Amino acid sequence: MGTFAREIYDVVGIGFGPSNLSLAIALDEYRSEGPDNRPKPSAMFFERQPSFGWHRNMLLPTTTMQISFMKDLATFRNPVSRFSFVSYLHASDRLTQFVNNQDFFPTRQEFHQYLEWAAAGFADRVRYGTEVTGIRLPATTEAGAAEAYVELEIRSGSATRVVHARNVAISTGLVPRMPQGVQSDERVWHSSEFLDKYSRMNPSELKTVAVVGAGQSAAEITRYFYDELPHAQVYSIIPSYGYCVADDTPFANQIFDPGAVDTYYFGTDRSREAFWHYHRNTNYSVVDDEVIRDLYRRSYDEEVRGLDRLRFLNLTRVDQVKRAGDETRVSLLSSADETPELDVDAIVFATGYDGMEPTALLGDLDRYCLRDEKGRHRVARDYRLVTTPELGCGIYLQGGTEHTHGLTSSLLSNLAIRSGEIAESMIGRRAESAAETPFRRVGAGETG
Ligand code: FDA
Ligand code: NAP
Repeated sequence: MGTFAREIYDVVGIGFGPSNLSLAIALDEYRSEGPDNRPKPSAMFFERQPSFGWHRNMLLPTTTMQISFMKDLATFRNPVSRFSFVSYLHASDRLTQFVNNQDFFPTRQEFHQYLEWAAAGFADRVRYGTEVTGIRLPATTEAGAAEAYVELEIRSGSATRVVHARNVAISTGLVPRMPQGVQSDERVWHSSEFLDKYSRMNPSELKTVAVVGAGQSAAEITRYFYDELPHAQVYSIIPSYGYCVADDTPFANQIFDPGAVDTYYFGTDRSREAFWHYHRNTNYSVVDDEVIRDLYRRSYDEEVRGLDRLRFLNLTRVDQVKRAGDETRVSLLSSADETPELDVDAIVFATGYDGMEPTALLGDLDRYCLRDEKGRHRVARDYRLVTTPELGCGIYLQGGTEHTHGLTSSLLSNLAIRSGEIAESMIGRRAESAAETPFRRVGAGETG
């Protein structure tokens, strides 16, 4: 068969956040752990940010990780990985000091540096500043034939190109959620935009600011505003009576164990429901104990000093936001008393995220993907989308699988194991398919 000069990879990753970075490591390390000397799969990752960045707009000073440093990109899968957090500390000449610090939870700044350090090891396999805009079957597909490749359309500036992949790992991350009808702009921000939008303001003009929500993002931003804007009135609009603590006690924390994925995946509707009923408070609408106490100390200190600069509007939700020029009027729904409207100079909606949703990216390909009775994608235990036989290519999800695999879907806790499982599945599929490809294979470091 003739050879076509097409750019084709065993694995293409969409997005290069921690999930696909962890997959890049698992693929890279596969050969040394694998049962034989199969060559490493060729892989390429496309990331729309201009350089590596992990929730940069929430890299607030002193904020800490919500998982142990041991739950890094690789350790749970390969404790001797050169991409572990401990390796990073060693390379940074800070291992001794870290241990002296006796803390399981590094700052987000430090973990970001670790992720950047690990990502730098894959510079030949990532294209930054590139966005995947669509996935489709190759135009040449014969009717009824199982197509083992898909085409991905890649946009970089005004240029577009197409690459082919035998396996695709979609890992595009959480989707910021605003209350219905509220639009973000230069004075109305979602927490995911926080530092960027804040940096565009003159702080002295921010005399009244508000933060909406009672989750970790809201509490961290409220504290930041209070500390950074000593002249400002800070409102915290929280739907509960007070912040609720994130349960990270050991028994509850077991729901993030690798084994909990099996319990969830192979469980019954009732057992899955129990996970959410009893353990949603490990992650959603909750705040770390330390941050709660930190904020309360500030609030109490205000009382001692007879000030009222930090105000918590509890049992309150935001209904609407009206904007006119520099003016922003917020309509509130309070179940405690009448606080119908608030005028602010800026308001931050720390109102959470929706899970990853691959439908738009899949486009027409989505019709080959099977859905459950609630209309959600069916996903195999190895995180592969369940498809009709026409689609021979493997499409894997890193995120967007809370309904099938449980609470770790959007988190870092199980990254190392999940990536290992996905890498194993992709490599296994490659071994199964002995058929020769009519395409020229592009080496991992080769630019297409
Ligand atoms: P992530 O969102 O990190 O990365 C997705 C990447 O895909 C992005 O870089 C994006 O630019 C890129 N992308 C999207 N669409 C694209 C396209 N079409 N083409 C190319 N690139 C595209 N969890 C935890 O376990 N412990 C913790 O401490 C925290 N801390 C934390 C802090 C904050 C502020 C938030 C908002 C969330 C957390 N999380 C967390 C949860 C969080 O989901 C998790 O830390 C990771 O970001 C998940 O990594 P992913 O790679 O899956 O997504
Ligand atoms: P979240 O936990 O989903 O919290 C969203 C909050 O917004 C909830 O309190 C919600 O209340 C409230 N809300 C929604 N609509 C509202 C409205 N109209 N009016 C008032 N309140 C409203 O989101 P998050 O805090 O962004 O956390 C998301 C994820 O990121 C979590 O996994 C978290 O752990 C992580 N995170 C980690 C760090 C860190 O590592 N340091 C920092 C920030 C975030 P209801 O529940 O009542 O709807």
